[in-house]
Amino acid sequence: MENIKIPSHVGIIMDGNGRWAEKRGKNRSYGHKQGSANVDAIVTHAFESGVKSLTLYAFSCENWARPKEEVDELMKLLKIYFKKFIKKVVNNDVRLRVIGGREELKPDLIKVIEDGENATKDNKKNNLNIAINYGGRQEVVRAVNKLIEQNQPITDQNISKNLDTAHCGDPDLIIRTGGEYRVSNFLLYQGAYSELYFTDVLWPDFNEVEFDKAIQSFGQRKRRFGKV
Ligand code: IPE
Ligand code: IPE
Ligand code: MG
Repeated sequence: MENIKIPSHVGIIMDGNGRWAEKRGKNRSYGHKQGSANVDAIVTHAFESGVKSLTLYAFSCENWARPKEEVDELMKLLKIYFKKFIKKVVNNDVRLRVIGGREELKPDLIKVIEDGENATKDNKKNNLNIAINYGGRQEVVRAVNKLIEQNQPITDQNISKNLDTAHCGDPDLIIRTGGEYRVSNFLLYQGAYSELYFTDVLWPDFNEVEFDKAIQSFGQRKRRFGKV
Protein backbone atom coordinates (compact mmCIF):
# COMPACT_ATOMS: atom_id res chain seq x y z
CA MET A 1 0.00 0.00 0.00
CA GLU A 2 2.07 2.85 -1.29
CA ASN A 3 1.38 6.51 -0.61
CA ILE A 4 -1.35 5.69 1.85
CA LYS A 5 -1.56 7.61 5.10
CA ILE A 6 -0.88 5.14 7.88
CA PRO A 7 -2.50 5.69 11.29
CA SER A 8 0.05 5.82 14.08
CA HIS A 9 -2.17 4.30 16.77
CA VAL A 10 -4.90 1.80 15.90
CA GLY A 11 -7.42 0.31 18.32
CA ILE A 12 -9.27 -2.91 17.46
CA ILE A 13 -12.49 -4.19 19.01
CA MET A 14 -12.08 -7.87 18.21
CA ASP A 15 -15.75 -8.88 18.16
CA GLY A 16 -17.66 -11.80 16.70
CA ASN A 17 -15.93 -14.92 18.02
CA GLY A 18 -19.12 -16.37 19.49
CA ARG A 19 -21.18 -15.92 16.34
CA TRP A 20 -18.34 -17.29 14.22
CA ALA A 21 -18.47 -20.52 16.23
CA GLU A 22 -22.26 -20.70 16.41
CA LYS A 23 -22.48 -20.44 12.61
CA ARG A 24 -20.39 -23.61 12.50
CA GLY A 25 -22.46 -25.41 15.12
CA LYS A 26 -19.64 -25.20 17.67
CA ASN A 27 -19.52 -23.74 21.16
CA ARG A 28 -18.40 -20.18 21.82
CA SER A 29 -15.07 -21.33 23.24
CA TYR A 30 -14.14 -22.71 19.84
CA GLY A 31 -14.65 -19.22 18.44
CA HIS A 32 -12.50 -17.68 21.15
CA LYS A 33 -9.71 -20.12 20.33
CA GLN A 34 -9.86 -19.22 16.64
CA GLY A 35 -10.04 -15.55 17.52
CA SER A 36 -6.98 -15.77 19.75
CA ALA A 37 -5.06 -17.59 17.05
CA ASN A 38 -5.84 -14.73 14.65
CA VAL A 39 -4.23 -12.02 16.78
CA ASP A 40 -0.65 -12.84 15.84
CA ALA A 41 -1.11 -12.38 12.08
CA ILE A 42 -2.89 -9.04 12.43
CA VAL A 43 -0.35 -7.68 14.90
CA THR A 44 2.53 -8.66 12.62
CA HIS A 45 0.82 -7.21 9.57
CA ALA A 46 -0.14 -3.95 11.30
CA PHE A 47 3.40 -3.29 12.47
CA GLU A 48 4.82 -4.23 9.07
CA SER A 49 2.40 -1.74 7.50
CA GLY A 50 3.89 1.08 9.56
CA VAL A 51 1.43 1.26 12.45
CA LYS A 52 3.40 2.29 15.52
CA SER A 53 0.96 1.34 18.32
CA LEU A 54 -1.87 -1.16 18.55
CA THR A 55 -4.47 -1.44 21.30
CA LEU A 56 -6.49 -4.65 21.22
CA TYR A 57 -9.73 -5.05 23.15
CA ALA A 58 -9.61 -8.58 24.53
CA PHE A 59 -11.90 -8.51 27.57
CA SER A 60 -14.15 -5.73 28.81
CA CYS A 61 -15.15 -4.95 32.40
CA GLU A 62 -18.68 -5.92 31.33
CA ASN A 63 -17.56 -9.32 29.97
CA TRP A 64 -17.34 -10.65 33.55
CA ALA A 65 -21.14 -10.92 33.37
CA ARG A 66 -20.89 -13.80 30.87
CA PRO A 67 -21.37 -17.41 32.00
CA LYS A 68 -18.56 -18.54 34.31
CA GLU A 69 -17.35 -21.28 31.91
CA GLU A 70 -16.90 -18.73 29.13
CA VAL A 71 -15.07 -16.27 31.41
CA ASP A 72 -12.80 -19.07 32.66
CA GLU A 73 -12.05 -20.17 29.11
CA LEU A 74 -11.25 -16.59 28.05
CA MET A 75 -8.90 -16.11 31.01
CA LYS A 76 -7.17 -19.38 30.19
CA LEU A 77 -6.71 -18.36 26.56
CA LEU A 78 -5.43 -14.93 27.54
CA LYS A 79 -2.75 -16.55 29.68
CA ILE A 80 -1.69 -19.01 26.97
CA TYR A 81 -1.57 -16.43 24.18
CA PHE A 82 0.05 -13.76 26.28
CA LYS A 83 2.85 -16.20 27.12
CA LYS A 84 3.30 -17.03 23.44
CA PHE A 85 3.31 -13.35 22.59
CA ILE A 86 6.09 -12.54 25.01
CA LYS A 87 8.42 -14.94 23.18
CA LYS A 88 7.47 -13.49 19.82
CA VAL A 89 7.59 -9.76 20.54
CA VAL A 90 10.54 -9.64 22.88
CA ASN A 91 12.97 -9.93 19.97
CA ASN A 92 10.93 -7.75 17.62
CA ASP A 93 11.41 -4.52 19.57
CA VAL A 94 7.73 -4.47 20.60
CA ARG A 95 6.81 -3.19 24.03
CA LEU A 96 3.93 -5.14 25.51
CA ARG A 97 1.50 -3.66 28.02
CA VAL A 98 -1.78 -4.78 29.48
CA ILE A 99 -4.26 -1.96 30.10
CA GLY A 100 -7.34 -2.03 32.31
CA GLY A 101 -7.95 -2.87 35.95
CA ARG A 102 -5.35 -5.32 37.17
CA GLU A 103 -6.56 -6.15 40.71
CA GLU A 104 -9.53 -8.20 39.56
CA LEU A 105 -7.32 -10.61 37.55
CA LYS A 106 -6.09 -13.94 38.94
CA PRO A 107 -2.55 -13.95 40.38
CA ASP A 108 -1.25 -16.45 37.79
CA LEU A 109 -2.42 -14.23 34.93
CA ILE A 110 -0.99 -11.12 36.62
CA LYS A 111 2.34 -12.92 36.91
CA VAL A 112 2.44 -13.71 33.18
CA ILE A 113 1.45 -10.13 32.35
CA GLU A 114 4.17 -8.69 34.58
CA ASP A 115 6.75 -11.04 33.07
CA GLY A 116 5.78 -9.87 29.58
CA GLU A 117 5.85 -6.21 30.50
CA ASN A 118 9.24 -6.55 32.19
CA ALA A 119 10.77 -8.60 29.38
CA THR A 120 9.82 -5.94 26.81
CA LYS A 121 10.27 -2.78 28.85
CA ASP A 122 13.31 -1.59 26.85
CA ASN A 123 11.70 -2.28 23.47
CA LYS A 124 10.98 0.84 21.48
CA LYS A 125 9.83 0.26 17.91
CA ASN A 126 6.19 -0.63 18.52
CA ASN A 127 3.66 -0.62 21.35
CA LEU A 128 1.22 -3.45 21.78
CA ASN A 129 -1.47 -2.82 24.40
CA ILE A 130 -3.84 -5.61 25.29
CA ALA A 131 -6.99 -4.38 27.03
CA ILE A 132 -8.04 -6.90 29.67
CA ASN A 133 -10.70 -6.04 32.25
CA TYR A 134 -10.76 -2.72 30.45
CA GLY A 135 -13.50 -0.10 30.31
CA GLY A 136 -13.17 3.47 29.11
CA ARG A 137 -15.34 4.86 31.90
CA GLN A 138 -13.45 2.94 34.57
CA GLU A 139 -10.16 4.17 33.09
CA VAL A 140 -11.24 7.82 33.39
CA VAL A 141 -12.36 7.23 36.99
CA ARG A 142 -8.95 5.67 37.78
CA ALA A 143 -7.13 8.59 36.16
CA VAL A 144 -9.16 11.18 38.07
CA ASN A 145 -8.66 9.36 41.38
CA LYS A 146 -4.91 9.29 40.75
CA LEU A 147 -4.94 13.06 40.25
CA ILE A 148 -6.94 13.59 43.45
CA GLU A 149 -4.48 11.40 45.38
CA GLN A 150 -1.57 13.43 44.01
CA ASN A 151 -3.40 16.66 44.73
CA GLN A 152 -3.22 17.72 41.09
CA PRO A 153 -5.81 19.80 39.24
CA ILE A 154 -8.39 17.88 37.20
CA THR A 155 -7.66 19.18 33.69
CA ASP A 156 -8.01 17.61 30.26
CA GLN A 157 -4.23 17.47 29.95
CA ASN A 158 -3.77 15.80 33.35
CA ILE A 159 -6.52 13.26 32.71
CA SER A 160 -4.99 12.41 29.31
CA LYS A 161 -1.56 11.97 30.88
CA ASN A 162 -2.99 9.44 33.34
CA LEU A 163 -4.90 7.29 30.88
CA ASP A 164 -3.67 3.74 30.24
CA THR A 165 -2.67 4.60 26.65
CA ALA A 166 -0.89 7.89 27.43
CA HIS A 167 2.37 6.44 26.04
CA CYS A 168 0.86 6.06 22.52
CA GLY A 169 -1.17 9.22 22.09
CA ASP A 170 -4.81 9.15 21.06
CA PRO A 171 -5.92 6.40 18.66
CA ASP A 172 -6.16 7.64 15.06
CA LEU A 173 -8.33 4.75 13.95
CA ILE A 174 -10.62 2.37 15.81
CA ILE A 175 -11.70 -0.78 13.96
CA ARG A 176 -14.62 -2.92 15.10
CA THR A 177 -15.22 -6.31 13.57
CA GLY A 178 -18.39 -8.37 14.01
CA GLY A 179 -20.98 -6.02 12.54
CA GLU A 180 -22.06 -4.00 15.57
CA TYR A 181 -22.01 -0.21 15.32
CA ARG A 182 -20.97 0.74 18.83
CA VAL A 183 -17.84 1.26 20.88
CA SER A 184 -18.79 -0.84 23.93
CA ASN A 185 -16.74 1.20 26.45
CA PHE A 186 -13.50 1.11 24.43
CA LEU A 187 -11.09 4.11 24.51
CA LEU A 188 -13.89 6.57 25.23
CA TYR A 189 -11.84 9.57 26.32
CA GLN A 190 -8.86 9.25 23.99
CA GLY A 191 -11.14 8.23 21.12
CA ALA A 192 -12.87 11.63 20.99
CA TYR A 193 -11.53 12.29 17.48
CA SER A 194 -10.67 8.79 16.32
CA GLU A 195 -11.82 7.69 12.91
CA LEU A 196 -14.17 4.70 13.22
CA TYR A 197 -14.22 1.73 10.86
CA PHE A 198 -16.89 -0.95 11.17
CA THR A 199 -16.92 -4.23 9.28
CA ASP A 200 -19.32 -7.17 9.30
CA VAL A 201 -16.38 -9.59 9.12
CA LEU A 202 -16.24 -11.66 12.31
CA TRP A 203 -12.95 -11.45 14.20
CA PRO A 204 -11.69 -15.00 13.38
CA ASP A 205 -12.13 -14.17 9.67
CA PHE A 206 -10.51 -10.73 9.87
CA ASN A 207 -7.28 -11.08 7.88
CA GLU A 208 -4.56 -8.91 6.34
CA VAL A 209 -6.75 -7.98 3.36
CA GLU A 210 -9.53 -6.81 5.68
CA PHE A 211 -7.03 -4.84 7.74
CA ASP A 212 -5.77 -3.13 4.59
CA LYS A 213 -9.35 -2.12 3.73
CA ALA A 214 -9.57 -0.31 7.05
CA ILE A 215 -6.27 1.45 6.40
CA GLN A 216 -7.43 2.42 2.90
CA SER A 217 -10.63 3.85 4.34
CA PHE A 218 -8.64 5.81 6.93
CA GLY A 219 -6.45 7.18 4.15
CA GLN A 220 -9.50 8.73 2.50
CA ARG A 221 -10.83 10.46 5.60
CA LYS A 222 -10.54 14.20 6.07
CA ARG A 223 -9.89 14.78 9.76
CA ARG A 224 -11.05 18.24 10.76
CA PHE A 225 -10.81 18.15 14.57
CA GLY A 226 -13.57 20.73 14.76
CA LYS A 227 -11.87 23.12 12.38
CA VAL A 228 -12.92 24.01 8.84
C1 IPE B 1 -15.41 -11.02 21.13
O1 IPE B 1 -16.30 -11.95 20.64
C2 IPE B 1 -14.57 -11.54 22.26
C3 IPE B 1 -14.94 -11.02 23.57
C4 IPE B 1 -15.86 -10.12 23.81
C5 IPE B 1 -14.22 -11.53 24.70
P1 IPE B 1 -17.70 -12.23 21.31
O2 IPE B 1 -17.51 -13.28 22.33
O3 IPE B 1 -18.32 -10.99 21.83
O4 IPE B 1 -18.49 -12.80 20.09
P2 IPE B 1 -19.98 -12.46 19.67
O5 IPE B 1 -20.10 -10.97 19.60
O6 IPE B 1 -20.87 -13.04 20.71
O7 IPE B 1 -20.15 -13.10 18.35
C1 IPE C 1 -16.66 -5.76 23.06
O1 IPE C 1 -17.42 -6.80 22.59
C2 IPE C 1 -15.58 -6.28 23.97
C3 IPE C 1 -14.50 -6.99 23.31
C4 IPE C 1 -14.38 -7.21 22.04
C5 IPE C 1 -13.46 -7.48 24.18
P1 IPE C 1 -18.76 -7.27 23.29
O2 IPE C 1 -19.29 -8.41 22.53
O3 IPE C 1 -18.52 -7.47 24.74
O4 IPE C 1 -19.68 -5.97 23.13
P2 IPE C 1 -21.26 -5.85 23.13
O5 IPE C 1 -21.77 -6.62 24.31
O6 IPE C 1 -21.74 -6.42 21.85
O7 IPE C 1 -21.53 -4.38 23.21
MG1 MG D 1 -19.58 -9.63 21.01
